[in-house]
Amino acid sequence: MKFSHPLMKNNYTNEDMLQVRKLLKNKDVILTQSNQVDKFEKKWSKWLNVKYSTFVNSGSSANYISIAILKIINENKNKNEIIVPSLTWVSDINSVIMNGFKPVFVDINLNNLSMNIDNVLKKINKKTLAVFITHAQGFNGLNDKLIKTLKNKKIHLIEDVCESHGAQFKNRKLGTFGLMSNFSFYYAHHMTTIEGGMICTNNKKIYELSKILRSHGMSRESGNKKFVRKTQKQYKKLSPQFIFLHPTLNFRNNEINATIGLSQLVNLDKNNELRTKNFLIFLKNLDPKKFWINFDTEGSCNYAFPIILRTSNFKERDLFEKVLFKNNIEYRRGNAGGGNQLRQPYLKKFIRLKNYNNFKNVDHVHFFGYYIGNYPDLRKEKIIKITKILNQIDLTDGK
Ligand SMILES: Cc1ncc(COP(=O)(O)O)c(C=O)c1O
Repeated sequence: MKFSHPLMKNNYTNEDMLQVRKLLKNKDVILTQSNQVDKFEKKWSKWLNVKYSTFVNSGSSANYISIAILKIINENKNKNEIIVPSLTWVSDINSVIMNGFKPVFVDINLNNLSMNIDNVLKKINKKTLAVFITHAQGFNGLNDKLIKTLKNKKIHLIEDVCESHGAQFKNRKLGTFGLMSNFSFYYAHHMTTIEGGMICTNNKKIYELSKILRSHGMSRESGNKKFVRKTQKQYKKLSPQFIFLHPTLNFRNNEINATIGLSQLVNLDKNNELRTKNFLIFLKNLDPKKFWINFDTEGSCNYAFPIILRTSNFKERDLFEKVLFKNNIEYRRGNAGGGNQLRQPYLKKFIRLKNYNNFKNVDHVHFFGYYIGNYPDLRKEKIIKITKILNQIDLTDGK
């Protein structure tokens, strides 16, 4: 179905394709991970202002590798809990479970769709190894209190910035606060590499581990000659080229995707400015009696327009969906990741909740929260037209 307002539009440019064609014209071109990947990682690090970045094949892979690294560096095996948001992408939670940690869930705030920090602080105990925050749909989820507490208690902060490229906290880009941060370059995000993800850090050891874990756990992938020699001496009976240090899989990306990433990165800041401008027009024109508009917009950078209904009436919600469908507006219910992760079947084996009373906000978003597309070439008139359609819907139960 072709939508008049899709979730994403024109995310690839002619220039991206020109750069790919140029790459393909090279004699003896290598298309698996090579120089373009290296170049993209360096440019990305510079853009984000971190020392190191590792390009992988998806944001989910970045999530998984980050938590696998935590498992390797964790010296206190009693610390096995990771605090996670109930509104996030499924791979954030699966990364925790698949690495043998216990996910400890907290509710979210409606004003930034991120973890309720007071809830996070209450959940911290002797077993807490890390807080894995998600900066959902372009909003900053951090505050000073969280950063300070985690630092004092020596608890790791991992940032999932897959939905928030370029968003900031205190004029500093998200993804530069944690021990590691993760980005996704899936088609629908702020920029794309077809598929792709990045793990970013300022810590050299973590960086080397991310490269090892990206590629079969191989020692030589670390890029650290001294370390490679050391492992070769340590495992004399192994072929020096094939020393597999940690259990993992192949999460590498390739030269075509890196070429697109390099080309896309050139326009990221400019596109983000347009997105932010669009977002503010959208909020200004939405009826605050029917829709939640009290978002923390400071530093935000949204690739989507979140629409949270004030009503909790299912009939009105169904009417809302009908109107969107009729007007050819593509939408997703549940905001980031389809809503309350705790309601998903994959978690039933791990967590048994009797009710969702402690998860009121995420539950509201689960049933009455949506997003629609916010792409750079969206014009003001169209945004106003969309808000008019939304404002006319009979959502009177919201008061
Ligand atoms: C918050 C968040 N984390 C992780 C991911 C996973 O990224 P990918 O789709 O590139 O695997 C997504 C995907 O949309 C996401 O929204």
